[in-house]
Amino acid sequence: MRPACHAPHRNAPALPGWPDCCQRVSAFVIFPRSVVRSTMAIAGGRTGRKDAMETGFALSEIDTATPHPARIYDALLGGKDNYAADRQAVRQLLKAAPEARDSARANRAFLQRTVRFLAGEAGIRQFIDVGTGIPAAGNVHEVAAGARVAYVDNDPIVHVHANALLTGSGMTSIILADLREPESILTHPKIRALIDFAQPVGLLLVAIMHFITDAEDPARILAVFRDALPAGSYLTLSHATADLRPAAARDAAAVYDHATSPVTLRTRAQVATFFDGWDLVEPGLVQVPLWRPDNRRPRQRELDRAWVYGGIARKSP
Ligand SMILES: C[S@@+](CC[C@H](N)C(=O)[O-])C[C@H]1O[C@@H](n2cnc3c(N)ncnc32)[C@H](O)[C@@H]1O
Repeated sequence: MRPACHAPHRNAPALPGWPDCCQRVSAFVIFPRSVVRSTMAIAGGRTGRKDAMETGFALSEIDTATPHPARIYDALLGGKDNYAADRQAVRQLLKAAPEARDSARANRAFLQRTVRFLAGEAGIRQFIDVGTGIPAAGNVHEVAAGARVAYVDNDPIVHVHANALLTGSGMTSIILADLREPESILTHPKIRALIDFAQPVGLLLVAIMHFITDAEDPARILAVFRDALPAGSYLTLSHATADLRPAAARDAAAVYDHATSPVTLRTRAQVATFFDGWDLVEPGLVQVPLWRPDNRRPRQRELDRAWVYGGIARKSP
């Protein structure tokens, strides 16, 4: 199955039938050995790991010249799986909004606390994590040890890294798919094999909905997932906002105009509508450091630098 690719189409196609954005070739891509092994398998190589992966795309499809949200986020968090274009975007981002790095860290910590809550108190044993990102410390299956986790991302690089680092136990899989096509996620054979739709599911949409424009109808996307999941399922969602320093946040978001996906910042009230049809659990939709902090109430400085709202909601019977 070929990946749906939504990067802006800029180059003339060379491979018939492929999205234009998949035609750009970087001649000087250097990957860690684990990633090369996985990519060989993706391209139909002989690593024996093919079962865990999508087949049918190759290194040459990975565009390293255009900043990508997954790699920008990786660079913001201090990761190494990013390229010059991504690091340049991060420099611009931090110039516009020095708070961006703290916001990313606060979001990542929120993800981990919420997964701990879901796997613990809420008793969730299976997760669909859409917008996985490049694996970093505290991935979902590590926090929710023993749970089944389907990772989903539309970035081939995430797919390659995740395949190298996250799959192999039979309890996790990585799917190259796009949130804008929720049906293709829900009907994907790997999702159907790993996730039991008769049992509650933890759906994670953490720091991804701001990559969905209003024209792409986020309400429809969310409704498709809500309708497909059984009662007792949970939605975890976080979203960037311009509510705190509107002009700086808009300048920071503009950096993504030159990336593969633009960013749509939303107000708290707009993000709250994404939970329609779900029951928010305490403390509701809040700036992410305020979502059940571990030890102490966050300081004001932390809140001033956390430009992300997040919440968890449960689907009632
Ligand atoms: C900011 S990262 C968030 C990573 C992780 N969820 C976290 O919060 O730590 C956003 C991720 O969403 C992915 N993404 C963006 N738009 C997407 C789409 N339409 N479909 C699937 N993945 C998407 C990016 O590739 C990236 O890996």
